[in-house]
Amino acid sequence: MRPSFFHHLHPPTIPTAQARWRHTLAAGGTAIFLMLILGVTGILEMFYYIPNPEEAALSVQTITYLVPFGGFIRNLHYWSAQLLLIVSAIHLLRVVFTAAYSHPRRFNYLLGLTLFVIVILLDFTGYILRWDVDICYPLLTGTNLLKTIPLIGDALHRIAIGGGDACTSGLLRMYVWHIFGLTLPVIILGVWHAFRVRRDGGIAVPPPQVRTDNARISRNELVRREVLAMFVIGIALILLSSFAPAPIAPAMPTTPAAIGAAASQSARAPWFFLWVQQMLKWGDPFIFGIVIPIGILVLVALIPYIFPKPADSDIGTWFPKSNRFAQITIGLVSFIVILLTLLANAK
Ligand code: HEM
Repeated sequence: MRPSFFHHLHPPTIPTAQARWRHTLAAGGTAIFLMLILGVTGILEMFYYIPNPEEAALSVQTITYLVPFGGFIRNLHYWSAQLLLIVSAIHLLRVVFTAAYSHPRRFNYLLGLTLFVIVILLDFTGYILRWDVDICYPLLTGTNLLKTIPLIGDALHRIAIGGGDACTSGLLRMYVWHIFGLTLPVIILGVWHAFRVRRDGGIAVPPPQVRTDNARISRNELVRREVLAMFVIGIALILLSSFAPAPIAPAMPTTPAAIGAAASQSARAPWFFLWVQQMLKWGDPFIFGIVIPIGILVLVALIPYIFPKPADSDIGTWFPKSNRFAQITIGLVSFIVILLTLLANAK
């Protein structure tokens, strides 16, 4: 048989321990499945979406209410994107709590984290594409934060939205970032990340001599489990998309005064940036909107490099003693982000 990427990811047999739900939580695979749904539904939406400030919100309404199955496809796209963020965060936590980031998986950990950041940016740019009254505040705040960065701020602002006024002329850039500038890197990094999982020896589990179970499962059994997981998630998504519509609001006004009024009326970031919005209330936007979030990201990226290496027999086991520092770090970061989100939501 000719070797293929599928066969690389699915060798003839793998240790049963690597394919247990309770070990992987099926989170990485679910993230890939959600990305595939996002790709297909996103392409379908592109047939009707018009990336021009006068018509964008109207075209979203056309997709939602007039195109056959348009509302359902849009709901699928929306819910897959929200779930992807949650599932990726769960996957990140599982990788840290099972010490799976340790050598030889340190590089793949960084690839995964980069994927996560791009997924967040994809969710943000997708949110902006609605171009309704709710998007001006987050777009303006986010792009103005870029400007606060010394030396390169203005250049970054120009790269992000073309340098003009965000809420009148930023749409086309957001569209190109969303469908190409961020999507292409996600595809490349996603394939690379999955390739590296096998290159690094498959999912991290304790070495055979300390494992209680050295059974193996066949490729067919692995595929059967993957299909079962996709089936369950697919049904959940279909139900969610049938009964919970994606948010939709009136179109963004076109005159500067009305745009300003809309921005101050619905001054709310999308849910995954509420924690940053909460911090921005405390003072200097550069410190609270750029330095601290990037500092947190760098801290998480350095987990495999700055903390003591977990014992070999601990790699691939839940909450081992030898990576306590990493667990406390990621636990604290998650706690703070959730707490700030709840605080922002309480207002
Ligand atoms: C956001 C999109 C992501 C996708 C689509 C993805 C996909 C996957 C898949 C399919 C696996 C193998 C199955 C599994 O472990 O569940 C995997 C493993 C892995 N991922 Fe991710 N991942 C993503 C994000 C991340 C993040 C944010 C990190 C960490 C910062 C990360 C680090 C790793 C590591 C270290 C492994 C190997 C785990 C092990 O050997 O036990 N990934 N990823």
